[in-house]
Amino acid sequence: MKERQRSWASLYAWQLARAGEAPLFQQVYRQIRSAILSQSLRPGAKLPSTRQLAAQLSVARSVVVSAYEQLLAEGYISGKIGSGSYVSSDLPEPVEGGNARRRKRPAAIAIAPAIEASLPRGFVDVTARSDERPFNLGRTLVDARTADLWRKVSARVFRSLDSDHFGYSDPRGLPSLRGAICDYLRAARAVQCEPEQIMVTSGTQHAIDLVIRVLHQADMQAWVEDPGYALTRQALMAAGIRTHAIPVDAQGIDVAAGIWRAPKARAVFVTPSHQFPTGVVLSMARRLELLNWAREAGAWIIEDDYASEFRYGGRALASLQGLDESDRVIYVGTLNKALFPGLRLGYAVVPSALLSAFLTTRYLTDRQPSSLAQAVVTEFIEEGHFAAHLRRMRLQYRDQRDTLVAAMRQRLDSAITVDPPDQGMHLVAYLRRGLSDTAIERAARSHDVIVRAMSRLYVDAAPRSALVVGFSGYPRQMIAPAVTRLARAVEQHQQSQQKTRRAG
Ligand SMILES: Cc1ncc(COP(=O)(O)O)c(C=O)c1O
Repeated sequence: MKERQRSWASLYAWQLARAGEAPLFQQVYRQIRSAILSQSLRPGAKLPSTRQLAAQLSVARSVVVSAYEQLLAEGYISGKIGSGSYVSSDLPEPVEGGNARRRKRPAAIAIAPAIEASLPRGFVDVTARSDERPFNLGRTLVDARTADLWRKVSARVFRSLDSDHFGYSDPRGLPSLRGAICDYLRAARAVQCEPEQIMVTSGTQHAIDLVIRVLHQADMQAWVEDPGYALTRQALMAAGIRTHAIPVDAQGIDVAAGIWRAPKARAVFVTPSHQFPTGVVLSMARRLELLNWAREAGAWIIEDDYASEFRYGGRALASLQGLDESDRVIYVGTLNKALFPGLRLGYAVVPSALLSAFLTTRYLTDRQPSSLAQAVVTEFIEEGHFAAHLRRMRLQYRDQRDTLVAAMRQRLDSAITVDPPDQGMHLVAYLRRGLSDTAIERAARSHDVIVRAMSRLYVDAAPRSALVVGFSGYPRQMIAPAVTRLARAVEQHQQSQQKTRRAG
């Protein structure tokens, strides 16, 4: 802390008026005093030596010595002139409480009213840590082995960083990481790609933002899934794009309904391998229908292949992008789920026709991804730790899924229907007729259980009452007690329903 404050004092932008009426030593005195009182220089901060400050201000050293002597005599600074002066911790008058607080501030402006209205209150809480309570969504597990390897690989990579990492580089990301991601996607998801087409992003949300910036045209319309991933729809709305919520049935997004409802749409955002939130797999017939529509309409399909790394059984379909013969699919994936959300790294596989527009857009927004995290992830993948981590997590998450399903079936059998999903990090527990998922979501919170009401993820389609429940990353021993608490919340809801009925 001291180090940092010391450097600020020596970097401080002191201003002297040569032609001013006040003697120079008084100007120096006043400026330092005011920097101390406004807390720009905090107690304990070391002031530059008289020689340094005199050189910085181009004044005689005696000017600074006089100013320091007065500050010392009045108690603003302590120490010894010559060997080091520090801002006193016991000041002779109260500090001013910082510059910012005294300023008149402009009124806060809201994001577009339509999205503001669609967001839950306090939607973006920058002070909130991710809620660790079960069964919050998207929690990942970093076991001791991964944590240890991550530290070791990071230390080694950081020791051997070279000029490639310190300078500006390719806006798409480090070639070595793009190569590693490309190999992984070809092998694991049958994605058709070359490293040149991979754009490293900070995650899915960033990739979606880039897609929107690239495809945005006046009057642009897009299909989104109903129910669907709220952040995609909200990002589109925030950009002023008209979204059409297209129903999802047992085969995935209803393409015919999309064509009928919004024939002018030129983009569709889908989660084909594990529809969010229902978990439905987009059937082969629908995949072909969607690709066909995109080709004929000249539209773009944005395939969000989130959590496809965690497949537990059943027949996995390869990516939609892998079936595409017309280069109309932008494939988006994330390492923030495969590894951990704080990593902020993901990728998009961009069709060649859009590559140059993506490059320019990336360059104009954040120029390039940070080289340091990319270098670590590249090594982590190339040394086989990533694949091993996925294998271990797959086993753990599957076990957590099974423990959760068993506990729910045991404790909540009369209220819900639940099947273990073949993929992903959450499950959907459908509620018996008449039970309200939003009321249970609220009641569960007071029992320290986080479940999401699925009905809130619908836009136009008739909402189904269900709980979206994350299972990944919650240790076995935490699961059964949390389900017991959830069962209590459900009972509470049932009792209050009965009371209302009796009263009515
Ligand atoms: C549908 C969907 N896509 C993507 C993500 C991952 O987003 P990001 O990479 O921005 O963390 C999530 C996370 O919850 C998700 O549910």
